[in-house]
Amino acid sequence: MFLVSTVSSPHLIWAADQDQMRWDKKYAMEKYLFGREAISFLKDHVDLLPKGHVLDLAMGEGRNGVFLAVNGFQVTGVDISQEGLKKAEALAAKQSATITTVVADLETYDIPLNTFDVIICTYYLQRNLFPKIAAGLKPGGMALIETYTMDHLQYRPRFNKAYLLEPNELLTMLPGLRVLRYQEVDTGQAAFASILAQKPQ
Ligand SMILES: C[S@@+](CC[C@H](N)C(=O)[O-])C[C@H]1O[C@@H](n2cnc3c(N)ncnc32)[C@H](O)[C@@H]1O
Repeated sequence: MFLVSTVSSPHLIWAADQDQMRWDKKYAMEKYLFGREAISFLKDHVDLLPKGHVLDLAMGEGRNGVFLAVNGFQVTGVDISQEGLKKAEALAAKQSATITTVVADLETYDIPLNTFDVIICTYYLQRNLFPKIAAGLKPGGMALIETYTMDHLQYRPRFNKAYLLEPNELLTMLPGLRVLRYQEVDTGQAAFASILAQKPQ
């Protein structure tokens, strides 16, 4: 693992360090903050995904990436938190799976072009990543994204609105990709949207 530190402005360096410390602190416990189980939307659609190399953006403790590794995908996870990624590696090892992890700030991370069969990003909203996700997919590759919508404010009124999706917003975020599945869900405890979209061959 290595720390990518290509930010130039002192303010950005400070912001990235703050993020890293905040998340490392949250993850510094044995319990898995987001659980060990992959999200349902991923489990439900794993059979549609083209087998090959997966990039898991903001992998956290690895619930989704490890599920894909166990299912025969070659998985690389990127996250700003080394603590989170250590837990992801431990989760993989427990299931005799292997993942590659990269500690990096997604604000400055360059996704290699036309490289991945699948890119996933769950519960991390950085809007300027979406064009990079589309560009990082191979032709025929798929993006799977899920995160909270504005409706989630009824359950977490203090959630920062900047990191919540507007209704239908995900549908507009991956131009050029074909939407295969889309949902907006309100479980009574959380509200989120999910999308599975494919880059044309
Ligand atoms: C809510 S968690 C979601 C983790 C995982 N995707 C999941 O669904 O279980 C958000 C993740 O984003 C990561 N993160 C926050 N800011 C980041 C940044 N600038 N670059 C990379 N990762 C970041 C955090 O470390 C954390 O693991």
